Amino acid sequence: MGGLSLSQAPPLTVVASFFVTGPLFALAAGALLLLTGLDALSQPFAPLTLGLTHLLTLGFLGSVMMGALYQMIPVVLGEPVPWVRSAHLVHAAFSVGVACLVYGIAATAPAFVFGAIGLLGAAILLFLLPIGLALTRSKARTQTARGMRFAVFSLLLLATLGLWMAHGHAGMAFPGERLRFVDAHLSLGFFGWVASLLIAISWQVVPMFYLAEEQPERLRRLTRGLVMLGALAPSVGLLGLRLGGESLAPMFELLLRYGAAPAVVGAFLLHPWLTLRSIQRRKRKRRDASLRFWQVAMALGPVLALAAVAASTLTDPRARFAYGLLTLWGWAGLVMHGMLGRIVPFLVWFHRFSPLAGIEKIPSMKSLLPDARAELGLRLHVASLVTLLAGVLLSSDLLVRAGGALVALTAIVLLRNLMLVLGRTPAT
Ligand code: HEM
Repeated sequence: MGGLSLSQAPPLTVVASFFVTGPLFALAAGALLLLTGLDALSQPFAPLTLGLTHLLTLGFLGSVMMGALYQMIPVVLGEPVPWVRSAHLVHAAFSVGVACLVYGIAATAPAFVFGAIGLLGAAILLFLLPIGLALTRSKARTQTARGMRFAVFSLLLLATLGLWMAHGHAGMAFPGERLRFVDAHLSLGFFGWVASLLIAISWQVVPMFYLAEEQPERLRRLTRGLVMLGALAPSVGLLGLRLGGESLAPMFELLLRYGAAPAVVGAFLLHPWLTLRSIQRRKRKRRDASLRFWQVAMALGPVLALAAVAASTLTDPRARFAYGLLTLWGWAGLVMHGMLGRIVPFLVWFHRFSPLAGIEKIPSMKSLLPDARAELGLRLHVASLVTLLAGVLLSSDLLVRAGGALVALTAIVLLRNLMLVLGRTPAT
């Protein structure tokens, strides 16, 4: 834990509220799949599909990532986030905003989408202001710090595009050609926001928690550069096409369609390979469930790269859904799930038990969440992913519903694990 500014850590309630909300949205995604089956996974841009996408991207991944930033900026970059208690307001507006957006789009209820635009806009602004301030004030120049800054910048861009597009579902006009906007929004959302943050955090936590070897600086820089390039290129294409310039239009079209390719290489091939290699060379050879989450997620890398190629070249919508599931619930979902099981026990131990060290007998950090419980979460998570993928590829309504039930069960096990740890308090 050397180099961490643990005394700067925000109150536990700030971070825990986001960390518990994430799995609640995953539970809702599982319930939606269980109730609607293949209808939610057969047609891109269908209202149910958009609802499901945002339960996972904004609800599950977004909540966990926002909580992680409130925690990591002060502790890892040594820069406190100003007005940190405003996070409670952000949390409330964001959670209700995501619920309204999902319900409004999925049930074609424009008034809810309209409300979501206001709530999400306010929540994201109130989140970005203090977080952005802390990130710019911080003197840290590490690859982790740079990756975090880019992720937060991407959130600003992708939320602007998302909220603009949401007007089309709120009884107003779409900003332009939907497919083009979605391609830019998706690259910023997935590679700019999700992948950049996940990768930046991995450079900090994998060596710290597992005594794994640090990845070489120049390869980390290369990974970050590739992911950044791929995240931004489709937006440059969109901007170019909107600003005109007939002669350059074919180039902008190419950027929009295939510009994310460098990010696929960086996030799905280079980073997983480097991470697995550094884990293999770790000093502490023990393997706990949270490490296995990393290993499974990283081992998916080449499959993700193939799925990305299939999704961008085949017209069959199943390729797009398989890619979406693999990235959101597979790669990113597994890492978030595994890290919650590792970071929440650490936070509870640090805030509640470590001050009592030497005064009374305190439990070890590991004993707060028995490994078997986290392992059950991992097995269910993998089973839900495999079942959903089979359901999509075989167009089986039954398998998609079964996969949905497994997603819900995974979320329940994760929630139970988190509540168990958060419920632990010292005897005195
Ligand atoms: C404030 C945040 C966000 C808002 C307001 C938002 C809004 C929207 C809207 C309105 C659409 C539908 C566009 C249309 O119907 O033409 C859409 C599509 C989409 N968004 Fe978001 N979004 C947000 C964040 C994200 C994030 C973080 C991700 C990914 C990590 C994401 C991934 C997607 C995807 C994949 C689609 C297309 C779904 C499909 O193929 O059916 N969104 N978004």
